[in-house]
Amino acid sequence: MTEFGFGNEPPAGGKICVVGAGFMGCVIATLYAHHGYEVTICDSNPEMLDSYAQRARPIAAGMIADAAEVEALLDKVVRQPVLAEAVEGAFMVHEAVQEALDVKQALFEELDRLCPESVVLATNTSSFPISDISKRLVHKERVIGIHYVTPGHIVPVIELIHGPATPPELIAWARAMVKSIDHVGVACLERPGFLVNKIQFAMLTEIYRLMDEGLATREDIDDAVRLSLGPRLALWGPLLTEDLIVSKKTALAVTDSIYQQTGDENFKGRKVLRDLVEQDHLGAINGQGWYRFRDTPEEVVETRDRQLRALLDWLQKADPVGEMHVR
Ligand SMILES: NC(=O)c1ccc[n+]([C@@H]2O[C@H](COP(=O)([O-])OP(=O)(O)OC[C@H]3O[C@@H](n4cnc5c(N)ncnc54)[C@H](O)[C@@H]3O)[C@@H](O)[C@H]2O)c1
Repeated sequence: MTEFGFGNEPPAGGKICVVGAGFMGCVIATLYAHHGYEVTICDSNPEMLDSYAQRARPIAAGMIADAAEVEALLDKVVRQPVLAEAVEGAFMVHEAVQEALDVKQALFEELDRLCPESVVLATNTSSFPISDISKRLVHKERVIGIHYVTPGHIVPVIELIHGPATPPELIAWARAMVKSIDHVGVACLERPGFLVNKIQFAMLTEIYRLMDEGLATREDIDDAVRLSLGPRLALWGPLLTEDLIVSKKTALAVTDSIYQQTGDENFKGRKVLRDLVEQDHLGAINGQGWYRFRDTPEEVVETRDRQLRALLDWLQKADPVGEMHVR
């Protein structure tokens, strides 16, 4: 099979069927409809279809200012309890039923029977490998994870989870699909935690350890992250940030030192980092790290500091923690 979803690009205004009208299905269906797709939402529980508009209204209102247009958008989403009718004519089915492997496997088997082989079958699973969900399918190659990060109508990144049976063409297709709804696809292999949760929980488990060991308070941990790591990560991501703020030699020396002091294998300098040091790819400081820099180190520092100052000024004025009214 060379063509997915009726072409190399998702067809503008084509039909998508969202299966599961719960928390995530509600968001996903509304988002697709807002971007001009014809959407049918299907749920085995009729009450979930009846309450769709009520639950999706605040989501739609965050996308559209005009109240009448919000209602028009919600009206456009067709509610259909019968799966065979809901998927009729769809170029993609996006599954958002609860996180239970047997439920998803049974549903995908049914979808594989009901949908022509060019129809893309996407899953919003948070944890199951795509290969497990599609294990009993005839056309496994059309299954991909298109995993929203909560709140999915605001967070622009969507993980595109692929397994050994996923052809590169489908990953490219899925990138175009999420781009068509103004999101950004990040592809990753079907490993536990995928990409976002793996990184998030790597940090959190280290923080849980700090707390267990009584090394820092709740407020000091939050301040340390939100006023140092957070803004830099938001601007540039972890690898470009590293290029911009520290030489790879220093980064390697720091991880090695923590490893030697603690014996914690997680901090043992990794091959990718050692390779960069060996190649003298130290970062912005000498024009090449994870990335290659066009500007001089001085120009890079000027741009870096201007961007960081603007974000920190905004953050300190906005007082986001104060606004949360927590104690
Ligand atoms: N909740 C989150 O923040 C979040 C974030 C990202 C991904 N996810 C993933 O999204 C998926 C959905 O999660 P959720 O929180 O929206 O679940 P949910 O429990 O709110 O909704 C699931 C819906 O699926 C329906 N359903 C179950 N079996 C069905 C079937 N065979 N056919 C049709 N409808 C069926 C149920 O009636 C229910 O309405 C899960 O895989 C979850 O891991 C959730």
